Amino acid sequence: QNNAPVTFTDPSTGIVFNSWGIANGSPQTQGGYTFGMALPSNALSTDATEFIGYLQCAAKDEKGWCGVSLGGPMTNSLLITAWPNADTVYTSLRYATGYAMPDVYSGDAKITQISSTINSTHFTLVFRCQNCLKWNQAGSSGGASTSAGTLVLGWVQAFPSPGNPTCPEEITLEQHDNGMGIWGAVLDSNAANPSYTAWAAKATKTVT
Ligand code: HEM
Repeated sequence: QNNAPVTFTDPSTGIVFNSWGIANGSPQTQGGYTFGMALPSNALSTDATEFIGYLQCAAKDEKGWCGVSLGGPMTNSLLITAWPNADTVYTSLRYATGYAMPDVYSGDAKITQISSTINSTHFTLVFRCQNCLKWNQAGSSGGASTSAGTLVLGWVQAFPSPGNPTCPEEITLEQHDNGMGIWGAVLDSNAANPSYTAWAAKATKTVT
């Protein structure tokens, strides 16, 4: 997993991301994994409360799920879980206090989608995540500081599909089986972009 960011422009939306990933073919995870982040223009000096995320995750015959921990560890961090079903990529914001099925996150974080693609080996989601960089679940709080210049993030992916896949608050998961880890995600000036507001306005699709 790279720590220094790779700058990447998503061809379908034109959004510029700092990205970090594991190559397809690496022993850490089958199929590879990429997470990217685009931030408001002042995010490297003033902590952002939201970001635009890019997730490209592995699937087998359109089955699987993946996630990112916005604090690094699985526990006590806001968790984004994403999976494909039919033509839709679903997400669920979760929070775990132990290494067991995470609870539904009860804070006011919100995901809206900009674009998604699904094929037999991968799924991709570009999404806006508002109120996602500070979290509080029943008094357990934390956050990710964009002005610090480095985030600590976690990745995870798995091949079985969630149970109840069309109902994000009701999903069931098996323990992940296709790798996980924590990495230091360094941000550079390409992460913070004057076009952020225009890009964020493209997040018009709510999937619940
Ligand atoms: C790590 C269990 C769901 C993210 C772990 C570990 C266990 C576990 C036992 C530690 C394994 C080790 O160190 O060898 C589970 C179970 C789940 C679940 C039983 C559901 C039934 C999730 C979800 C996410 C997630 C939904 C995020 C969206 C992570 C990450 C790690 C991890 C990032 C590595 C960092 C760390 O060790 O804290 N999980 N997990 N997990 N999990 Fe989960």
